[in-house]
Amino acid sequence: MLYITGDVHGEITRFVEPEVPSKTWTGADTLIVAGDFGCIFGLKMDEQKLDFLESLPYEIAFLDGNHECFPKIYAYPEETWRGGKVHRVRHNVRHLMRGQIFEMEGLRMFTMGGGYSIDVGMRIPGLSWWPEEMPSREEYEEGLSNLEKAGNQVDFILSHAAPIGTMNYLKEIGVFQYLFPQERPLGVYLEQIAGDVSHRHFYFGHIHMDRELPDNRTALYHAVYCLNTGERIR
Ligand SMILES: [Fe+2]
Repeated sequence: MLYITGDVHGEITRFVEPEVPSKTWTGADTLIVAGDFGCIFGLKMDEQKLDFLESLPYEIAFLDGNHECFPKIYAYPEETWRGGKVHRVRHNVRHLMRGQIFEMEGLRMFTMGGGYSIDVGMRIPGLSWWPEEMPSREEYEEGLSNLEKAGNQVDFILSHAAPIGTMNYLKEIGVFQYLFPQERPLGVYLEQIAGDVSHRHFYFGHIHMDRELPDNRTALYHAVYCLNTGERIR
């Protein structure tokens, strides 16, 4: 079965089975992280964290967010997995690249990682912040081209950042105040895709809240949803 959760920020306890007491994880399960995976950060602890993740009985597939060490992620071998491009980190840990369409268990999902770091002023370039956090024009275009090839029809759109319409809505209802112009192109792109591409549900992370939203959109943080059933299991 396929599951999705939000920002992990390197906290590997998030992958420990007891956090989802109602479920036993097996090799037939994949847990997708909607960005800010944070377990590859150019730190000594990275390998220990990845060793732990590799010991788990299920597959882990992460979109990148904004808080990632992109040069380290991009150094892993690139390969095709379930129809889209990934970086293979460990035998059961993969980075789902931007603008790809993956087909898993008969479900098609479009991925677009990346986002803007609102705390960039407190971060050090090359140590705790990397400029690749926002998607490039090529990545946006590759996404549009892959969607077109798929007949603009997927089951799920998965991103780290939120579509601009959702950001505006959250601001209107007083739940989330931050709208950064630096992230606007990504939010506009995601909103355009949501309008143009037939999909069942849109999941994103980034804003650190678990909330079901209008237009079949869900903000993810610690919650875990089953993509096959739509049910929240944590
Ligand atoms: Fe985050």
